[in-house]
Amino acid sequence: MTATVTSTSAQPALAGITFPDGFIWGAATASYQIEGAAREDGRGPSIWDTFTRTPGKVYAGHTGDVACDHYHRYVEDVAMMADLGLASYRYSVAWPRIQPDGTGPVNARGLDFYDRLTDALLGKGIDPVVTLYHWDLPQTLEDRGGWAVRETAEAFAEYARIVHGRLGDRVKTWTTLNEPWCSAYLGYASGLHAPGKKDPAATFAAVHHLLLGHGLAARSLRDAGAQSISITLNPNAVSPVDPDSWADREAARVIDGLSNRVFLDPLLRGRYPADMLEHMARFTDLAYIQDGDLKTINAPLDMLGINFYQPTYVYAKPGATGSPDQPGSEGVGYRAPDGPVTDMNWLVEPSSLTRLLKRIHDDYPGTALLITENGAAYPEGPSADGAVHDTRRVEYLDGHLRACHDALAAGVDLRGYFVWSLMDNFEWAEGYAKRFGIVHVDYSTQQRTLKDSAKWYRDVIRRNGIAD
Ligand code: NOJ
Repeated sequence: MTATVTSTSAQPALAGITFPDGFIWGAATASYQIEGAAREDGRGPSIWDTFTRTPGKVYAGHTGDVACDHYHRYVEDVAMMADLGLASYRYSVAWPRIQPDGTGPVNARGLDFYDRLTDALLGKGIDPVVTLYHWDLPQTLEDRGGWAVRETAEAFAEYARIVHGRLGDRVKTWTTLNEPWCSAYLGYASGLHAPGKKDPAATFAAVHHLLLGHGLAARSLRDAGAQSISITLNPNAVSPVDPDSWADREAARVIDGLSNRVFLDPLLRGRYPADMLEHMARFTDLAYIQDGDLKTINAPLDMLGINFYQPTYVYAKPGATGSPDQPGSEGVGYRAPDGPVTDMNWLVEPSSLTRLLKRIHDDYPGTALLITENGAAYPEGPSADGAVHDTRRVEYLDGHLRACHDALAAGVDLRGYFVWSLMDNFEWAEGYAKRFGIVHVDYSTQQRTLKDSAKWYRDVIRRNGIAD
């Protein structure tokens, strides 16, 4: 696919751009963040049900019990997606709806919901992209060791087989895991996310078992005839503050290893990077890596999903404790954002997305990429005229779409773009305090209101590009 610049103007940054034919335009959500109906139709408890009830873990004690009530409003939500002209919608399946205990009996009523949702989407000509795991692990599996143990990876493959068995006749594109970096490091190192553990050895075991779970699930899906199999990562666009400083480059190497190569190399090269094996061995004996695991993890991928929000700049800072998310990152300093930030205090720097996409394309050639999430939190709600003027979100999305276009022009095989998120939702440890939606949700009435960004995105989709 080649990208074409269709027009130019005196201000190149504002020139119109067109995306390749067939470029996929979508929006993304995740089960726990939007569904609500936490105790309905036989759904079992997940680690996020437990975590949200643990005092002090989530902003103002918010939970996903009701969320956007999408479980009951999916018909209206799908109509809204059709109104936006989405070609595709990325949703996730809640494992505890399918197998309330993580293994064993299948809850047919849980499968029924995704069956209805899939049919509603297809009825409007919207292609579903299904993520099998977006962080809502059945609590029973966590009680048995969670992602730190091999059994969870094995259970995940069985769950993947069950979901495919029900939806596989209609769903073409499957994503095994969403952001295993978060599951492993936020879940088991810093404890900022469920299950809230702080255990470096468990963290690296979780990295491995998430990768193994992906590989085993990919095999189940492939054997069952799935057309397109992917995993979504959140690669860190990390750079040294001073590229001429050896020490800063070393700091960047460590963070790049922990955030990126420890996932990308096993998935796409079938081996762990040597420096990361050494790094992990400081915390664990690595005995959980069994013969044949890396071959399983290296299962062929049809696409790699990329979630992108912000860049990271690091430098050598002797004596620094490093990041609580990244065991062994002592001596690494993180530069505070030095430009415009979103409501998450994340730096807005679209060029770092182009750089990241080119890097993955160069280092892991032949990998088709899909932006499975990109977006920004800003607080704007309806103003007096009833509209939501989220100008900064439009600017953010515009800049990042141009960054994608630059990557295409540089030869990156980028297949599509999914905005995060379709609507405001439960932002994990931040509760409902951060709004990522292009659609505003009034949580007291559940009313949805298209923000200016949604109207802008509708226009982007319609013209397959950005206007002059
Ligand atoms: C990535 C996660 O996949 C999603 O669940 C989250 O809401 C966004 N990042 C924004 O933080």
